[in-house]
Amino acid sequence: MSALKILVIPGSLRTGSLNARLAATAGYELSQAGVDVTRISLADFPLPIYDGDLQTKSGVPKNAVNLKRMMSAHHAVLIVTPEYNSSVPPLVKNAIDWVSRVQDANENRGQVFRERPFAIAAASEGRLGGTRALAALRLILSACHATVIPDQLALSFASQAYDDMDRLRHPADIEALAALVRQLIEFSQRMT
Ligand SMILES: Cc1cc2nc3c(=O)[nH]c(=O)nc-3n(C[C@H](O)[C@H](O)[C@H](O)COP(=O)(O)O)c2cc1C
Repeated sequence: MSALKILVIPGSLRTGSLNARLAATAGYELSQAGVDVTRISLADFPLPIYDGDLQTKSGVPKNAVNLKRMMSAHHAVLIVTPEYNSSVPPLVKNAIDWVSRVQDANENRGQVFRERPFAIAAASEGRLGGTRALAALRLILSACHATVIPDQLALSFASQAYDDMDRLRHPADIEALAALVRQLIEFSQRMT
């Protein structure tokens, strides 16, 4: 079987983003496990805030179609989200909302969510590590009928979580990421 292709999406555009850093770490661990990893930035898929009138007038924006096709070209998707006021940031929710409206030729709407597993992770300076954003994201993806793998990673005190070689320093974080990588690969193989 050829290498699994997994798409990694950081949910922050911020310079120095803790979630972009965790997405890079997770991407590295996936590639060490033999996965062909694509890590994107949502900055390359700018989207207006979802508005039904806009969709009626102009259709789904090309960037939403492109993002959906990027997801379709991979066996699985890992989203690494910040936590804003106990939930996901608008950047993440808006991207999912638009992608859920894409209707590609010979496909049902939302098929991209149903056909591949999703994994979720978060990084935050807080003690809970974005756990509430993960609960919200799991709910949103489940509403899209996605299979969200049970293992997840909430990286607490995220700016302190790395050593000077830029590796996770705490055994619990290392093991949580390793478990997520193992499980995502297992689900990807099962659903392919
Ligand atoms: C509007 C807003 C709300 C936030 N709410 C939370 C929160 O509920 N829980 C939390 O742990 N951090 C919260 N934070 C702090 C973010 O976790 C922190 O800014 C983090 O660095 C953002 O992710 P990033 O570094 O990937 O951009 C909030 C930040 C912003 C801007």
